[in-house]
Amino acid sequence: MKHILITGGCGYTGTLLTNDLLNSGNKVTVIDTQWFGNYLKPRSNLNIIKLDIRNYNKIPFKNVDVVIHLANIANDPGVELDPKLSWEVNVVATQKLIENSVKNKVKKFIFASSGSVYGIKKEKKSNRRPTFSSNIYLQYYKNDS
Ligand SMILES: NC(=O)c1ccc[n+]([C@@H]2O[C@H](COP(=O)([O-])OP(=O)(O)OC[C@H]3O[C@@H](n4cnc5c(N)ncnc54)[C@H](O)[C@@H]3O)[C@@H](O)[C@H]2O)c1
Repeated sequence: MKHILITGGCGYTGTLLTNDLLNSGNKVTVIDTQWFGNYLKPRSNLNIIKLDIRNYNKIPFKNVDVVIHLANIANDPGVELDPKLSWEVNVVATQKLIENSVKNKVKKFIFASSGSVYGIKKEKKSNRRPTFSSNIYLQYYKNDS
């Protein structure tokens, strides 16, 4: 049995994944703002915490083996509705989650994201540039660095 912490566990993919992981005999902690509700039924070995990942220091990492990071403002149109919020959630909080996972000796960190983080580029392989598809991210990236 592994203890798996899923951010965004109440979302579209998170709900299915959480139930699959519980059915496979794992313990699951879900961190989610529940912006779209919560359709997870109470089960033993499931702990649901209603929390914004921007409050990353409140996330309990004790005895967590694996983090699966799904909490996200998905798609460019969604990001553009509130670029500052999207930057804070999708980039800053993600970075802090990774740092806190390393500090807490989490064995595996899985980041779902999607191929669109690479944008549309002519190069076959792109490992020299930051993987930001949205101009908004690029703008914040430049301001922060
Ligand atoms: N759905 C797909 O087909 C698909 C495909 C490829 C990649 N992905 C990626 O998987 C991830 C999850 O996708 P999804 O379709 O399940 O999205 P979703 O929007 O259904 O779920 C996201 C969940 O994250 C939560 N959330 C958002 N911001 C939060 C915050 N600040 N703090 C805590 N919780 C927060 C929301 O309440 C929601 O429950 C995304 O990164 C997405 O890009 C999804």
